[in-house]
Amino acid sequence: MGSQWSRDKVYVRAVKEGYRSRAAYKLREIQERYHIIRETDNIVDLGASPGSWLQVERELTAGIVVGIDLSYIPPIENVITITGDFTHSHTLEAVRPLMPCTSVVLSDASPKLSGQKTYDQARAIELGENALLFAERILKPGGNFVVKSFQGQDFNTFICRVRDHFLSARTFRPHSTRKGSTEIYIVAKNFIGREWNNESLKNCTNETEGPL
Ligand SMILES: C[S@@+](CC[C@H](N)C(=O)[O-])C[C@H]1O[C@@H](n2cnc3c(N)ncnc32)[C@H](O)[C@@H]1O
Repeated sequence: MGSQWSRDKVYVRAVKEGYRSRAAYKLREIQERYHIIRETDNIVDLGASPGSWLQVERELTAGIVVGIDLSYIPPIENVITITGDFTHSHTLEAVRPLMPCTSVVLSDASPKLSGQKTYDQARAIELGENALLFAERILKPGGNFVVKSFQGQDFNTFICRVRDHFLSARTFRPHSTRKGSTEIYIVAKNFIGREWNNESLKNCTNETEGPL
């Protein structure tokens, strides 16, 4: 009898299609539904290891793609990878010179689970808030943001915070999410921007030549 993984049809499909994990299909579903990535967008992906979202992003845009994770991300052609903690400001500062204009910030980051539900929920929300803070500091006005979150305590407060910064923010649960998981994505479009951010990014366009 096979293991739980070998019985997982989505995982088997991912292996066949050359993706590093089943998570690839979550981003593909988000893209099919909300068109968050355009073909010249520059993207920062937070919590990107092992890299299946980066593989999908590389297929979707000719722009710059940067992935950050606490864990090493095995190389992907024409993708910049950083091993680091995106909640630290020096990681953001390391990204800035690489990204003249950031159109999309994605976060599939999740904390290591302890099994203690309330504690894990609080840490997941905190990580999402850090992803939002990162996005606020680097996104160009009009940019898009996707963040993984978990339904439960403080989720509604978190989505309200996201709504404060974007013209629209919706929740989406991809079909490829495991049954029983409380995981849910917030898909936010059209970053409103902040005064200082708008000023520094007012000449920012999507026409930057990417590596492809
Ligand atoms: C579900 S995995 C991401 C899968 C990825 N989207 C893919 O498609 O391969 C979640 C990742 O979040 C990362 N992570 C959690 N907290 C982080 C932090 N503060 N900074 C960077 N990465 C973090 C973990 O190391 C883990 O690799």
